Amino acid sequence: MMDANRRRKALGHPKPEPPWKGEPLLGAVYGEEEIEAAVAAMRDSEDVSRGFGFTSEPIVKFQQEFAAFAGTKHAVAVNSAGPGLDLAMRYLRLQPGDEVIVPAVNYVAASLAVLGAGGQVVWGEVDERTFELDPNDVEEKLTPRTRAIFPVHMNGLSAPMDELIEVGRRHPHDTHGTLPVIGDAARACGGGYKGTRIGQRGLMTVFSLHTMKNMTTLGEGGMITTDDDDVEEFCRLSRMFGGGKYWGTSNVMTKVQAAVGSVQLGKLKGFIDARRRLAQARDELLAGLPEITTPHEPADCEHSYYLYTCLVKPEWAGDKRDRLIQLMDAEYGVGCVVANPPCYQSNAFLAERCGTGPLPRSEALGRRIFCVSVHPAMTDADNEYAVAALIECVERLRRE
Ligand SMILES: Cc1ncc(COP(=O)(O)O)c(C=O)c1O
Repeated sequence: MMDANRRRKALGHPKPEPPWKGEPLLGAVYGEEEIEAAVAAMRDSEDVSRGFGFTSEPIVKFQQEFAAFAGTKHAVAVNSAGPGLDLAMRYLRLQPGDEVIVPAVNYVAASLAVLGAGGQVVWGEVDERTFELDPNDVEEKLTPRTRAIFPVHMNGLSAPMDELIEVGRRHPHDTHGTLPVIGDAARACGGGYKGTRIGQRGLMTVFSLHTMKNMTTLGEGGMITTDDDDVEEFCRLSRMFGGGKYWGTSNVMTKVQAAVGSVQLGKLKGFIDARRRLAQARDELLAGLPEITTPHEPADCEHSYYLYTCLVKPEWAGDKRDRLIQLMDAEYGVGCVVANPPCYQSNAFLAERCGTGPLPRSEALGRRIFCVSVHPAMTDADNEYAVAALIECVERLRRE
């Protein structure tokens, strides 16, 4: 653990102004290359015969590059991950009463996508160390109406895809066969799993390129990866009013976004390396602090550390965790975010339509979880300051 001398030195760092947010509003770093790419795409669009052309070269190029990065046959660019998740659920052609298993500790987007496509959400428990959908719990929640397993690659770490795929294979639906596993990788662009990139396993995976995420396409954007030709065609046509074959609306990405996306994708590995270096330094500097559990990275995963997800000890659940977050922010300018309590606790609409558990494991985690600001632009000194601040706050709460 960080010793007292090193901590004193680290806290000599000026209080960050503005404070680091728990989930910084720009999750990546961009510079002249992105600006030049955007301007070039805009200049190219001045030509009335081309305009911003929704199937223009930068979009096709970005999709090809993203597919090559993820190791999939296809990638389909969309305007954000939310509509990408809607497309994924619509692809299933859910009938009333059809169920999709979604982790409860999650952002609200996946469960809303299930409801939007006419399905029923079944909440799954998550693993206490990884916060990923638990395959054993999924197995217990299966019914003859289960149509898909819908994990989120939580906070930058891969879900246990092979185990979930195996559950889907062992319990086929009577009419539709093997249960597909569809990944929400909104927070996990660039993470790894068993020597592959997140997005390679499962029927399809949806990424977010929103401003907060590991890389961004001018603040909004998304990508769907798949090896399946039918899924690719469905998503590609549906994002543009269905192409005469399906229902659809407009979910296209612009050429300017795609041009910037190509540059950001080229930098993604550097962003993830920076996040990993900061996280690993934190792990070492916080080791042995009894009140805090630092993130777990299974041996077969490469965490992208979209968030640095910690737990307070069970006795500090709830109020004391909240006080820790408040102290970190007010006294040291280091933001923390609770990501995430069970969806049905944070969203009344979901609680009303999808039930409120009980899911004892997820609910207990929701009272202990907190994520300490992390960003690829943080220096080692910023990082040591954040760690020192956390230890100071914990010691202060220990005395209260
Ligand atoms: C897990 C998860 N899924 C989906 C989304 C939605 O992404 P987008 O903003 O690109 O629609 C988010 C965004 O925060 C998310 O965190």
